[in-house]
Amino acid sequence: MSYATRKDDHVRLAIAQQREFIDTRHSCQFDEVEFVHHALRGTAEHVVSLTTDIGGATWPVPLYINAMTGGSSRTGEVNRGLAIAARETGLAIASGSMSAYLADRSVAETYRVLRRENPNGYVIANVNANTTPQMAALAVELLGADALQVHVNAVQETVMPEGDRDFSAWPRNIARMAEALEVPVIVKEVGFGISADTVAQLADLGVRHVDVSGVGGTNFALIENARRQRADFDLLAGWGLSTPACLVDAHEVAERHGVTLLASGGVRNPLDVVRGLALGARAVGISGYFLSILETDGVDALIAEIDTWITRIRQLMVLLGAETVSDLAHTDVLLTGRLAEICRLRGVDPAGYARRSGTHPAARRMPADPCPEQHR
Ligand code: FNR
Repeated sequence: MSYATRKDDHVRLAIAQQREFIDTRHSCQFDEVEFVHHALRGTAEHVVSLTTDIGGATWPVPLYINAMTGGSSRTGEVNRGLAIAARETGLAIASGSMSAYLADRSVAETYRVLRRENPNGYVIANVNANTTPQMAALAVELLGADALQVHVNAVQETVMPEGDRDFSAWPRNIARMAEALEVPVIVKEVGFGISADTVAQLADLGVRHVDVSGVGGTNFALIENARRQRADFDLLAGWGLSTPACLVDAHEVAERHGVTLLASGGVRNPLDVVRGLALGARAVGISGYFLSILETDGVDALIAEIDTWITRIRQLMVLLGAETVSDLAHTDVLLTGRLAEICRLRGVDPAGYARRSGTHPAARRMPADPCPEQHR
């Protein structure tokens, strides 16, 4: 199977998945993250800043178009549309896996269009975890990229008929890239999530940026199963940690190791973005949903949609009294349902999130005098 055919299949099947999400009013674990409404907490729109610092750069908004495609003429056109949308809205943008380019330089233009159409934007190159530092540097060079994403996709490879069957060299390969590359290295999943344990492991390997890309949106276990002749491998359809579960699981360990968390996977609307930021992500990425708007309604519709999201994110921050993206990490959040159960099983106390602003009256009450007699 050629790279080009596989890339075209992924785009087609991912769009079909998004249509199904709309038809079935797709729910995901972001629904189990609720903000405690404080009726007098709101701030003023003009004091809210959406900027966020990632890898030594300041992004104007805490949103990015996450890795998708390149490598065929159709996907080159998709990249052109995505790049124009990124340029017009100020979003950072990642290329799809550049393996096709590293194997065959004739497809360079299908990736380079990301930089041609968006000369001043924040562009991220994407490679797999078998890539050598030299090859990764070539990918970065082609795009004049500001950062490198390395995707870890063992579940996808397992279901993919032509996929890898040996993942044992990935930690060593990642460490080599993190050491050699001059740009920040972001390790990301492709929709199955990254646990606290993996964040700690990545920190030891020298990685300082992790995109958890959890389960809840585009599902590559299903996409690859649909590409199998007999579609006979659906065992992994429910596999993975959701994006909110990953953030809650990894938040503390990421802080301790100086790792910046990014969130993607199943982000459906601006409220999900704000939920992700409140759970400690410094920026939130979207793939499948933006792709389906681009391919269904065109680039102007995608630009309009992103502009609306930016307006709504600001409005939600005003409502929550968050003047900065990092202020959102101090809002009171209710983690409910299965997400709360996952928290408890992983040793995270959901109650800590529910009162973390510190304004709950019980938290503000004067502490009882422990030794009343001695003060008299
Ligand atoms: C992807 N994704 C992806 N990720 C990656 O690191 N390299 C890649 O080449 C691709 N290819 C790709 C193709 C298509 C068509 C889609 C929709 C997605 C995964 C993507 O970056 C993201 O991690 C997941 O899609 C989850 O996010 P959404 O789609 O739920 O917002």
